[in-house]
Amino acid sequence: MATPTGWRREGNLPAELTSFVGRTRLLSHLKRHLQDNRLVTVTGIGGVGKSRTALRLAHQVRGHYGDGVWFADLGRLQDAGMVEHTISSALGIADQSPRSQTDTLTEWVGDRHILLIIDTCEHLVEACAGLVTRLLAKSPNLSVLATSRQSMGAPGEQVVPIPPLAVPGDDPNESLFTNESVQLFNARAGAVVPDFTLDETNVDAVAELCRRLDGIPLAIELAAVRLRALSVQQILTLLTDRFSLLAGASRTALPRHQTLRAAIGWSHEICEPAERLLWARLSVFSGDFELDAARFICSDEDHLPAERIMELISGLVEKSVLLMQNHNAGVRYRLIDTLREYGIEWLRKLGQEEMVQAKHLEYYLQLALTGEHAWSGPRQVYWFIRMRQEHDNVRSALDHCLNEPSHRKTALQLLSSLWFMWVACGFAREGRLYLHRALEANPEPSKERCKALWVLSYLCSAQGDIEAAQKAAEECSDQAVQVGDSSAVILATKMQGTAAALQNELKKATALLGVAIEFNRAGPELNPGLLPAILELAFVLIAQSEPNEAEVLLSDLRQTCEQRGELWLRSYAHWATSLAQRATGRMPEALANAREALRIKGHFHDVLGAMMCLEAMARIATDQGEWARAAQLLGAAQTNWPLFGLPFLGSPFFSGEHEQSVKECRDRIGEKAYDEYFSHGSRMNLEEAIAFALDDEDTAAAPGLV
Ligand SMILES: Nc1ncnc2c1ncn2[C@@H]1O[C@H](COP(=O)(O)OP(=O)(O)OP(=O)(O)O)[C@@H](O)[C@H]1O
Ligand SMILES: [Mg+2]
Repeated sequence: MATPTGWRREGNLPAELTSFVGRTRLLSHLKRHLQDNRLVTVTGIGGVGKSRTALRLAHQVRGHYGDGVWFADLGRLQDAGMVEHTISSALGIADQSPRSQTDTLTEWVGDRHILLIIDTCEHLVEACAGLVTRLLAKSPNLSVLATSRQSMGAPGEQVVPIPPLAVPGDDPNESLFTNESVQLFNARAGAVVPDFTLDETNVDAVAELCRRLDGIPLAIELAAVRLRALSVQQILTLLTDRFSLLAGASRTALPRHQTLRAAIGWSHEICEPAERLLWARLSVFSGDFELDAARFICSDEDHLPAERIMELISGLVEKSVLLMQNHNAGVRYRLIDTLREYGIEWLRKLGQEEMVQAKHLEYYLQLALTGEHAWSGPRQVYWFIRMRQEHDNVRSALDHCLNEPSHRKTALQLLSSLWFMWVACGFAREGRLYLHRALEANPEPSKERCKALWVLSYLCSAQGDIEAAQKAAEECSDQAVQVGDSSAVILATKMQGTAAALQNELKKATALLGVAIEFNRAGPELNPGLLPAILELAFVLIAQSEPNEAEVLLSDLRQTCEQRGELWLRSYAHWATSLAQRATGRMPEALANAREALRIKGHFHDVLGAMMCLEAMARIATDQGEWARAAQLLGAAQTNWPLFGLPFLGSPFFSGEHEQSVKECRDRIGEKAYDEYFSHGSRMNLEEAIAFALDDEDTAAAPGLV
């Protein structure tokens, strides 16, 4: 799942779910390489332990990198064009701005002390090499550790091949009991059969088994699973028979990659036919998935009835084919990479790839439509978490329908129903990239295209790219008239109003937003036509020095949000109320509203919203004569804007307010003191800045922020 992480300094390393065995020398070797080289790539065959070793190393050295160790998994990425985006979002950059992504990324990394792990690069080596080279050139304190089945071929890259684990006999002086392959088997055996003990009676058989499996960790793990039904000796006998069959009479050993394949094939064979079919169908998922999705996508009436899926999934978990992960939001499953590849091959052989992909698309389209419908209601935080969790799957559903001519229109539908994910969950840039592709693939006017166009306009505004927002809204308006879609005409009007507001064309904005509100009031939909329009109109009134009128609108808006459970916009309503109250000199109330807004932001990890609140609080502190505090908040804001991309959304109003605070602070406390406080603030990451702005005792009460 894509966890929003830019709030934290320490990084986003996944936890290690099982014990780690051996590799002491390799780890210290890698540590030395990382000290001497800023780009280290560990290479090796599938299942040999590249990802696991990189993760172990990352945990060991995390204390050495003041700005965190960050983990980006490219394993499920199909599109080289998304590499930068994936790395940016792993680093927690909200990536909303229309600027070049590399600029945002390099600016954010800057001179921070960071170790970036890029896991699974082999299918995207060129894109990775290009990006890493550019990043390293601009970021003197960045180190990159990549894992890949082949090297990247980037300048200055130190390639470290990872061999399999040592097997008994490699070191004649070593006891069988301390050999690392044997220890891995022992550790996994203990998880399968809790009273398993490695002793004189079975150690030789285990040692032989590990030799046969060439010390490949994944192969050892798969073999250990069989202890559920067999003794070590029986496993060894069966394996030996199988391998000699595969190797042919003249050969005694298989090449290493074949050993793993044979071990996987063997696991495959012990699955019952229904489990095998499910394994193949589950390979359609990208990243992890939940039971309901598997039930819908992978079942059929004849071979895999939906009611059997749960039991079959348990069987695959027991056989170590599937990993089970407990998340706050429930249990999720994941196919191990190499086993997923095997599943994909199998699915192709069965000729069921297209059928399963179509169901995958159907499921995620339905999910998107349900999410869109439920977004403005009491379970908004749930939908925020849910969509972030399903990000990989949504992406692969989108890729699928964009690549399949028969599903192109569905791409428009899926993309535009996800407007709330692109806008509110921090993926504006990604949404925009996809929308351009989908609009290009569907040039003829249609209702679906009109919706995609107003969503595009919304995203462009959210990025501060006002010209593009204006253009998309105008096109939407024209085409909506052509196809007779009155609701799209109104939404296009709303989006034109938004763009005008950001451009400081206040009169035009008032007129357009007023029309949008008028027409949308009659309809059942709160979002995005009605409530955001009210918020923006209130903002325009504030900018026109009519804060009292704005407050009336905002008070109604907050009430509607409270009644409906709409939290995301409520926080913006508190923020705008704070601006209005400040304008009428009611500082304590203004501060209370800004704090309330900031507290809610934590639920959504809303970087843009949080930055707006910090700026508003700096302005209030300036008015209240709290110069030191104001200067620190300004410093914190300045460092963290690049997390979002475009400072102040490109709006002259916001940058003007900021400049005014800076000037007042400087004038009052002098250059030197200002610089000191400012630089203290600029050392805070976003999470620390928010804690500072809210004061510590409040942060503890805000679950999303800790
Ligand atoms: N030293 C180790 N101790 C314990 N478990 C290990 C070790 N090395 C690897 N494993 C386990 O072996 C399995 C395969 O390892 P991993 O996924 O790291 O392989 P990989 O080389 O990254 O494979 P791929 O090329 O498919 O990405 C995982 O379940 C991992 O946890
Ligand atoms: Mg790996």
